[in-house]
Amino acid sequence: MKIAFFDTKKYDIESFKQYDTNNEFKYYDTRLTIDTVDLVKGYECICIFVNDIVNKEVIDKLVEYKVKLILLRCAGYNNVDLEYCHNKIHVFRVPAYSPYAVAEHAMALLLTLVRNTHKAYIRTRNYNFSLDKLEGFDLHNKTIGVIGTGKIGKAFIDICKGFGMKVIAYDIFKQENIEYVSLEELYKNSDIISLHCPLTKDSYHMINKESISKMDKQPIIINTSRGGLIDAKDLLQALRKKELKGACLDVYEEESSIFYKDYSSEIIEDDILQGLISLPNVILTSHQAYLTKDALDNIAQTTISNYNDYINQGYGDNELCYGCGKVDECMKNRKHKCF
Ligand code: NAI
Repeated sequence: MKIAFFDTKKYDIESFKQYDTNNEFKYYDTRLTIDTVDLVKGYECICIFVNDIVNKEVIDKLVEYKVKLILLRCAGYNNVDLEYCHNKIHVFRVPAYSPYAVAEHAMALLLTLVRNTHKAYIRTRNYNFSLDKLEGFDLHNKTIGVIGTGKIGKAFIDICKGFGMKVIAYDIFKQENIEYVSLEELYKNSDIISLHCPLTKDSYHMINKESISKMDKQPIIINTSRGGLIDAKDLLQALRKKELKGACLDVYEEESSIFYKDYSSEIIEDDILQGLISLPNVILTSHQAYLTKDALDNIAQTTISNYNDYINQGYGDNELCYGCGKVDECMKNRKHKCF
């Protein structure tokens, strides 16, 4: 089982170690891009993460190097041109490694922001026990609008209900026991809006100047999904104009060249990111919502099981099938070969 892994960190290697019985896994810390694609030579299978770039140019090279299988160590697949992969390379993902990890992180960010624990932590470390300007607000009875009610959205809704919040939701597919409203109503009536839908052509920049102008309650925006869901420039402007109470961000539109690296001794050349970080009502983490031991173990286990499905039957439940052109619908309980 020869697999070339890209964008790997120590914790990835640790979680995959037990499956590498013949020492055949190759771990690159570099990301897969057109500049690094030559590293796949000699491997029919590659394993990638959220910021590896699999566009047409890279896919042509992968085909030239005879790569047959791409294993995503994540749920989102916006970084892979699935349509172009069709009939060339099979793509599998890990649809759910721990929806709870992401949902709990979303709530951790929200609680931090509304109760100012990030500020209190720093104060008390300096023996400053003043409560000045630390006033927060109750989540109980507040209305939270959840966009995307899949695995993570549902886990997040359960947490919010535990807090006594009123939950309204929007999704293109409806499920039982969730109060759905139109996007317009959700924008209008929410005190907090949390994004849990994938980044697609339809959802790209769904939070922008125009949608923010429909938000009557100056809500807090939580994004633990994908940076591209929000137009970061519009977000920054709205926060500066106090059209929003705050933002809890685990993802950022331009994160791929910044997140997961240490720039603490350098000057970041991204004015929007700098602007967001400088605001007292923005909490930003660097795409770490999934990062729990439970999730990492599940990622490794499902990735290896996806590999085995492909080897043993040529398809699997977690293949991102493009055969019928409707990735979301096709993936629900599919039992056929994509090609
Ligand atoms: P899921 O596939 O179970 O649910 C996604 C839901 O979004 C589905 O119900 C789908 O119908 C809905 N949806 C699709 N397009 C939509 C649109 N335009 N508007 C409203 N709803 C739409 O996915 P899951 O596991 O809940 O993950 C959600 C997202 O969370 C992923 O796509 C990924 O981008 C992100 N994620 C982030 C992580 C992190 O560490 N920050 C880790 C894992 C996932």
